Amino acid sequence: MADLFDKIATDPVLKAARMGREMGIYPYFRPLSETEGTEVVIDGRRLIMIGSNNYLGLTTHPRVRQAAMDAIARYGTSCTGSRFLNGTLELHQQLEQRLARFLGKEAALIFGTGYQTNLGAVTALMDKEDVAICDKEVHACIVDAVRMAGCQMKRFRHNDMEDLERVLKEVGDKPKMVLVDGVYSMGGDLAPLDVITELCQRYGARLFVDDAHGLGVMGEGGRGTHFHFNVVDKVDLVMGTFSKSFASLGGVVAGDKDVIDYIQHHARSLIFSASMPPANVATVLACLDVIEEDPSYVQRVHVQANKAREGLRRLGYNTGDSVTPIVPVIIGNEMHTVFLWQALFNNGVYTNPVLPPGVPPSKSLLRTSYMATHTDEQIEQVLQIFAKVGEETGFLQPA
Ligand SMILES: Cc1ncc(COP(=O)(O)O)c(C=O)c1O
Repeated sequence: MADLFDKIATDPVLKAARMGREMGIYPYFRPLSETEGTEVVIDGRRLIMIGSNNYLGLTTHPRVRQAAMDAIARYGTSCTGSRFLNGTLELHQQLEQRLARFLGKEAALIFGTGYQTNLGAVTALMDKEDVAICDKEVHACIVDAVRMAGCQMKRFRHNDMEDLERVLKEVGDKPKMVLVDGVYSMGGDLAPLDVITELCQRYGARLFVDDAHGLGVMGEGGRGTHFHFNVVDKVDLVMGTFSKSFASLGGVVAGDKDVIDYIQHHARSLIFSASMPPANVATVLACLDVIEEDPSYVQRVHVQANKAREGLRRLGYNTGDSVTPIVPVIIGNEMHTVFLWQALFNNGVYTNPVLPPGVPPSKSLLRTSYMATHTDEQIEQVLQIFAKVGEETGFLQPA
């Protein structure tokens, strides 16, 4: 009789992980013993962090830290229940109202994580008669959400508007929603929302934008990629997460009042899961205070990312179509990517290696990302180390 666990002995992912561990080049699940934003300590060594989503550097902002501590002092550590029952604080509703305004929408609903937000919103809205039309590079949780919803899924080539139009025509009159990321999490490129909104209107499709990496970063005041493209009213639903610029954990979906009310009463990941702890909610409120009062955080993350991107390009690295604080260094070959990651790590720079299935085969990359709080010296040091290891490993020829 076949045993359920038989697959473990032959699993290729586990095999590769074990090989990496034996060779001492396994890059994942590395514990940090200290983290102060732009620098971390691993195995007793201090590294410059360019692999975080803490774009505005607010996880260590004194006001943000204090707000989290004050919330614990006032409400305790957890709500111990679902929003549906005992787990709604006035603080949750205050954050929803604030985010609705920030995102330019009538209403907003917050969830325990960004992942749960996508699962909840998409499964609430989509049934088997409906069609989800997804960009090939949407985040994994959109794909999971669509699968869970049981609706039909169609994919279009990444950011290829002709291909999107082809799919929209093919789907015809069926109820449909286009799902894209505002900022793509690996490539750091933007969905062309100006064209996408126009196509959605022409073909009668609803539009869902996962702006996990755009919130706090893109558009005036960090209000999102829909503000960047000036299409606020043409995007039906904007989703964001608090685990990046907003220095916390949780997620939000915003849209018309009736639609949000509907999601609130149908989203299983909201109803059957505990609500955001008070400290996490207070953290997001404090981040909103900080960035609304001081726009320099949002401006500075782009300044620092531009310096890094231009520097990497000058050195000869391929940074793809990045125009955001996410700057991929595209290597291609998997082993080369791991070796370059290791060389950077040994020289004091933390990056994230992204290998298949995170990216298509032969498209492996190092995901680098920048923070408003990186100093000029840190960026300069990172570029010097990229130059050194690039030459040493043979990826870059000396100039
Ligand atoms: C584009 C995108 N959407 C959603 C999520 C999920 O967010 P969270 O980490 O809050 O669950 C992520 C997180 O990596 C993401 O990159």
